[in-house]
Amino acid sequence: MKFAERYDIAAPIYDTTAWFLSLGGIGKLHPGLVEGLDLTGKKVADLGCGTGLAFPALLEAVGPTGHVIGLDNNAAILAKAEKRVAENKWTNVTLVTEDIAKLPVNRDVDVVFSCIAMSCVPHPAQELSELLANLEPGTLVRIIDALPRTTGPARQAINGYNFVKSGIVGSHFRELRPFEQVFRDQLSDVVVDYLHGGMYTRLTGVKGA
Ligand SMILES: C[S@@+](CC[C@H](N)C(=O)[O-])C[C@H]1O[C@@H](n2cnc3c(N)ncnc32)[C@H](O)[C@@H]1O
Repeated sequence: MKFAERYDIAAPIYDTTAWFLSLGGIGKLHPGLVEGLDLTGKKVADLGCGTGLAFPALLEAVGPTGHVIGLDNNAAILAKAEKRVAENKWTNVTLVTEDIAKLPVNRDVDVVFSCIAMSCVPHPAQELSELLANLEPGTLVRIIDALPRTTGPARQAINGYNFVKSGIVGSHFRELRPFEQVFRDQLSDVVVDYLHGGMYTRLTGVKGA
């Protein structure tokens, strides 16, 4: 099944499915995007925003003077996000139908977030590298994804589960190992930590001058 078709089918049930497939972790990932960051008044992008599950955390963090740009390439998924935005009367969210690889907004934002989405693009490590290479100096980047673990006591179980899950969600688990090195090569002040018992890796860094 093609990736786009997979998310056409998933759109109506994404929020529930995400909870089960993340073993209840999805609710920790979005607060985890903003944890420890002062984002007041910032313009932030959420690449592969899906149905907008991260928007409440992002909007609370940026406050009324900030702005959230949600970008996704799947129309059915973005329609769900649009509904969420309308129902909540959020006025500082802009939705963009676009491919992450085309980088339409990233030069114009203070912070680039992506939660369990960079793993889904074709050639993810290459795309991540190109994304980071194109950012303006000073841009903060934080990505949370189910990356292969090379350390940690439960790494075999975590990698086994995330590999099986990647077949369902359409992520490219075997191609994600270079993500941490791509961050270290291209960004400063890189921090790597883990969420939900180590199932998810959080990469944070700042584009240098
Ligand atoms: C697992 S979902 C994550 C959604 C959301 N970030 C969340 O945390 O719930 C992956 C999302 O990435 C989007 N996506 C995958 N490849 C993409 C691409 N090349 N460009 C833009 N969005 C993409 C999918 O349409 C889907 O909405």
